[in-house]
Amino acid sequence: MFSEKLRAKHCGLEMRTPIAIPPAAMEGPAAQSVETYIDKLMSFVDAGASKVSIQYTCPENIVNYPKGKEPILRWGSVDDSSLIAKNFRYLFIIADEYAIMGRKDTGKRIIDGLKKRVPPGVIVQADVVGKGSDPESWSSIAKEFEDAGADCIELDTSCPFFAFHEEPRWAAFIKEGFPNQQIADSEEALPPVIEAVAKKLTVPFGWKMTPETGWPRFLYLAKETTDKGANWVTCTNNPLMFTPIDIYNDGKPDEKLFPGGTANTMAGAVGYGRAIGRKTVAAIRHWVPKAGIQAVIGITKPEYAVDYLMLGADIIELSSGLWFYGKDFITKTAKFIERFMDDYGYDSIDELRGRALEHTEWDATKYNYRYGELVAKVDEEMCTGCRRCIGTVCFAMSMDDGKAKVSEVLCGGCGLCTQTCPVGAVILVERSRPKELDIARGIPAIK
Ligand SMILES: Cc1cc2nc3c(=O)[nH]c(=O)nc-3n(C[C@H](O)[C@H](O)[C@H](O)COP(=O)(O)O)c2cc1C
Repeated sequence: MFSEKLRAKHCGLEMRTPIAIPPAAMEGPAAQSVETYIDKLMSFVDAGASKVSIQYTCPENIVNYPKGKEPILRWGSVDDSSLIAKNFRYLFIIADEYAIMGRKDTGKRIIDGLKKRVPPGVIVQADVVGKGSDPESWSSIAKEFEDAGADCIELDTSCPFFAFHEEPRWAAFIKEGFPNQQIADSEEALPPVIEAVAKKLTVPFGWKMTPETGWPRFLYLAKETTDKGANWVTCTNNPLMFTPIDIYNDGKPDEKLFPGGTANTMAGAVGYGRAIGRKTVAAIRHWVPKAGIQAVIGITKPEYAVDYLMLGADIIELSSGLWFYGKDFITKTAKFIERFMDDYGYDSIDELRGRALEHTEWDATKYNYRYGELVAKVDEEMCTGCRRCIGTVCFAMSMDDGKAKVSEVLCGGCGLCTQTCPVGAVILVERSRPKELDIARGIPAIK
């Protein structure tokens, strides 16, 4: 069904396509029924996924849900078209992490059932959580799932559902000074957990980074965990956000975007964080070349999958694309990658991986800004005279007879006007004569 070209290697495991389905805590009691859960994941496999995972799994051996704690999530969306991009809407989700957490016994039975059904080239993953930052708890549950037959283990070290509990359920297990379950963001808590897991497992394992970790700490964490034996880093879990409010209704929840929302709250954003993911993947591939990388965040178009591979991911996971468009999105993405490789002459996923880094300058002091070579040019026919380019920090634009006009002497060729002009009337062109900056006088002079 899929071309040989799509074959990928994930930490030594063979995959028939570079597409995985990440762990996704599902809603409703059926999500905890072994057969229905397996059927659901198998429908993703049939659509082209080559790694499937059970959702994050409880460290305790809870079999039944306490009354009133049956699995339920609540979804909403954010219409961000005025802020980010035209027609850009992303989802968000709130949940009681206890209610939707997968049960250990159920998880093991799902792994067992899946292993009997997946075809060659499809791997089965268990997603686990330990108690707080206790290495023993994390490594024990990881080992239990290895013994249950999982091909690989992912540590959910960064679930946003844990992040905004004022009184975390896990408080009793949390080391002093460490506020919640997001151990992915802790230089103290994470490495000992990774070390303990590496000692116990024989199958490959990875951990899930949180987008709440900033630059350059995520690089330190990627390096430290790779050195301590983690086989991959997943980039990344959901970013946190604040639910949309209705400013015309005293700041209450926006009923249109958050139907049924009884209060404003913190939520996990779904399909929003691609800018964070891209930076994380590229930087880890460059500075921690030994790390395995699985990219997940914000893949809502097939093109974004190729983008992540070119930035250095080994494989990609479809989360938001699946929530937005359903399982057909998996097939569409696989077919897109296949066609793309044919059209642009890439023979293997390996060949695609990290291509963009070959055209990358990591040192801003060495970047070629083409200073003095470029100048802005206004198309007078297109210019509407809206004056937007005049109102920015640009010193080179002025108005002349109702049209924007560039001073060649003052223009540094930075390109801001080309990006802010609402009708695309400004472009950068080569200067006829190169310009030098007369620093002594503070005035750029044309030679
Ligand atoms: C409803 C839902 C449930 C999720 N459950 C899990 C989970 O059980 N374990 C986990 O590691 N990540 C979980 N995630 C995080 C996703 O695997 C993924 O990392 C995240 O959604 C970011 O990708 P996206 O922007 O494409 O959605 C969940 C995400 C959503 C939306």
